[in-house]
Amino acid sequence: MRDKRNLHPHRPSLGDLITSKGTAMGLQGKVALVTGAAQGIGRAIALRLAQEGAAVAVEDRAANDRAEGTLKEVEAAGCDRAVLIAGDVGKVEDDQRVIAETVERLGRIDILVNNAGVERRADFIDATEADYDLVMHVNLKGPYFLTQAFARHVRDRGNGGRIVNISSVHEELPFPHFASYCASKGGLKMLMRNLSVELAPLGITVNNIAPGAIKTPINAHLMGDPALMQALLKNIPLKRLGSPEDVAGAVAFLAGDDAAYMTGSTLYVDGGLLWNYTEQ
Ligand SMILES: NC(=O)c1ccc[n+]([C@@H]2O[C@H](COP(=O)([O-])OP(=O)(O)OC[C@H]3O[C@@H](n4cnc5c(N)ncnc54)[C@H](O)[C@@H]3O)[C@@H](O)[C@H]2O)c1
Repeated sequence: MRDKRNLHPHRPSLGDLITSKGTAMGLQGKVALVTGAAQGIGRAIALRLAQEGAAVAVEDRAANDRAEGTLKEVEAAGCDRAVLIAGDVGKVEDDQRVIAETVERLGRIDILVNNAGVERRADFIDATEADYDLVMHVNLKGPYFLTQAFARHVRDRGNGGRIVNISSVHEELPFPHFASYCASKGGLKMLMRNLSVELAPLGITVNNIAPGAIKTPINAHLMGDPALMQALLKNIPLKRLGSPEDVAGAVAFLAGDDAAYMTGSTLYVDGGLLWNYTEQ
């Protein structure tokens, strides 16, 4: 008997597209690779893309308990095509291997989420070469060469792809004592804009998401200090920290059909932090 909910028999009804968790399956048949997915924002992105129906490669520096935890959550969300892949995104040979291994195990990659990132606090006057190198390697060199390996894969198989970089409001906003972090995210902004033009002929869209202050382990020092928290919340019009899920929702949008005509843009997920200005 014909499904009364569906007046177009060849198209799935909305009901058919809703999982038991109440999420639309907009990424069914797609394969996503998420870096730095062992915790924080990356973990929420991997989970959300799985809930949207994608097969997911959970990538992080090491296949440790945290990474295994994400893999288990992704599988528990109903994703029966999930793999764990270890690699240091700051190393070109790891980037090439991570792409090759994901393609070998999941068949292809449609969506690359460059999420892995680190920050180091230091007065500029005292900053060390080692800290500078670490931040630039993970936050900028990583996306650069992982994207290169992904673009070569897309070129060889055809049919386009999506790249979403997790940048920061600090691709725009100065952050004293975090000069290397700001330089890396500012660089990621221009890398994204450049590649949105250069990779368009391959059908690849490239966009950034710029989170504000999000509740993750990277901000543990902030969340444990009520005075720091109060000062921070004064700068956030929506008066709360963001959740990793707030960021993951924006990734699902940029990875899905609704964002097919978007490339070269930054989406701010910051509770209004970036453009906040008031006078008493
Ligand atoms: N939390 C925030 O407030 C916030 C705000 C703006 C932007 N961001 C950005 O969001 C991204 C995720 O941040 P988070 O808060 O979830 O951080 P997090 O520290 O909680 O998690 C980062 C993950 O990246 C992994 N990682 C680090 N170096 C790596 C490497 N070389 N190769 C592979 N994986 C590596 C870590 O093991 C970790 O699992 C980062 O790019 C960060 O700059 C975070």
